Amino acid sequence: MTTVKPVKLAPSLLSCDFTRLGEELRAISTADWAHVDVMDGQFVPNISFGMPILAAARRASELYMDVHLMIEQPERYLKDFAQAGADGLTVQVESTRHIHRAVQQIKELGKRAGVTLNPGTPLEAIRPVLADVDLVLVMSVNPGFGGQKFIPGSLERIRTVRRWLDEIGSGADLEVDGGVTPENARSVVEAGANVLVAGSAVYGQDGAGAGLKRLRDALAGAGE
Ligand code: DX5
Ligand code: ZN
Repeated sequence: MTTVKPVKLAPSLLSCDFTRLGEELRAISTADWAHVDVMDGQFVPNISFGMPILAAARRASELYMDVHLMIEQPERYLKDFAQAGADGLTVQVESTRHIHRAVQQIKELGKRAGVTLNPGTPLEAIRPVLADVDLVLVMSVNPGFGGQKFIPGSLERIRTVRRWLDEIGSGADLEVDGGVTPENARSVVEAGANVLVAGSAVYGQDGAGAGLKRLRDALAGAGE
C-alpha cells in the first residue's frame, strides 16, 4: 500500500540570484525546504559553493536546509556542513566507498540522513541502506547543472523506490531532483515522490513567488 505524505516543495538555491541571497530566501519562505546544491568540480563537472554560503543562508532564513552533496568522499566534510547549518545531508552513493558509514555519521551529527544516486546507477546500489535513511533522492537529471530536461525513465525508478520503502514500512521521504516543472510535477508525485526540488522552475522566470504558485497549482489535489 502506498504511504501518502503531503507534498513538500524544495526550491534549489543554485538558480537564485546570489547577490540577493537573503531576499531570494525570503521569496521562498512559504516553501517547505531550501535545497542546497554543493558541487566540487570532481564528482560533477561544475563547482557551486560550500560551507560559507550555507552558513549565510542559515543566518538569513529559518527554512529547513536540505543539503545535497555532489562531492567526492563526502565523509571529509559532513561535520563542517552540519555545523554550517544543514538540517538534512544527502550523499551520492557513487561518491563514497562506505555509504553505510557515511549515513551513520550523518545521524551521529544529529542530522537527517539522505542517500541519492545518478540516473545511470542501478537502484540496487541504495538498497542496503534503505532501512537506515530518512530520505531517498532520485536524481532525474545527471547532476551538475540546473535547467536540464527531466529524464522520463526516472518515473519508473521513483515507483520502484516507493514500492521498496513501502515494503519495509519506511517513512523516509522520497525526493526528486532535476527538471521538475509544473508540467511534470503531478506525474512525479503520482509515481510516489513527496518532495520536489525545483531550481529553474522556481527562480528562472518571473520571480520565486510566481514559480512556486505555478507548481502548487499544478499539484492541487495530487497526493490526496
Ligand atoms: C542538479 C542539482 C539540482 C538542480 C535542479 O545537479 O542537484 O538541484 O539545481 O535544477 P532544475 O530544477 O533547474 O533542474
Ligand atoms: Zn540537488
